[in-house]
Amino acid sequence: MEIKHADFFCSYADLKKLPETNYPEFAFIGRSNVGKSSLINMLLQRKNLAKTSSQPGKTRLINYFLVNKNWFLVDLPGYGYAKVSKQERQKFNKLIHGYLLGNRQNLLNTFVLVDSRIKPQNSDLEMIRTLGENQIPFSIVFTKIDKPKKNELNKNIELFKKTLRQEWEELPPMFLTSSEKKIGRKEILTYIEDIISQYKNFLSANNEQFYLTK
Ligand code: GTP
Ligand code: MG
Repeated sequence: MEIKHADFFCSYADLKKLPETNYPEFAFIGRSNVGKSSLINMLLQRKNLAKTSSQPGKTRLINYFLVNKNWFLVDLPGYGYAKVSKQERQKFNKLIHGYLLGNRQNLLNTFVLVDSRIKPQNSDLEMIRTLGENQIPFSIVFTKIDKPKKNELNKNIELFKKTLRQEWEELPPMFLTSSEKKIGRKEILTYIEDIISQYKNFLSANNEQFYLTK
């Protein structure tokens, strides 16, 4: 998919105010500082559209970006980072869970970002469990693969898969990425494009039109 347009749409602190739309929506979640906002900028080829920071807790709201004027990309606050205050973590968790479990029919896929430099983290495994148990479609994106040495990277990914296999028969789709080195962009965008095209077919089979807001 070519990115022709990418615009900031709106930020939300209140779940009740989220747009009532049936435009396809793709969410990016993960531990604070895992590289969500950086990945979004890399995918959309925009330097600082999503705000990034080396300090965890930069993204504090649910941020919607409108891409190619026909689908939304959603940047969410991070979860489970020890350096973010407990109060803040609780607030973010409420927002993230409320969003994900809010039964959004147009939320076509959630990308769970996982830091490729470290061993499987409980907060990631818990998030994946929540998504799986609630039948929310998701895939896994390993971030910052430019950082670890090759054998360290392979070891972390294999251990992650092994840990997931203890609970799940089937593994979700997985992507290896580096925003720094622009790795994984094409794979993710093609994946998004395929899902959008299936969704479009589904809508037209049901005689439904796209609407941006109700
Ligand atoms: P919060 O909004 O705070 O939850 O963080 P986030 O997940 O949006 O992370 P963000 O994109 O702000 O990146 C956090 C830090 O990681 C920044 O210092 C980035 O420069 C760095 N970073 C992000 N992606 C990469 C990558 O692919 N490689 C390397 N080496 N660093 C990265
Ligand atoms: Mg962020």
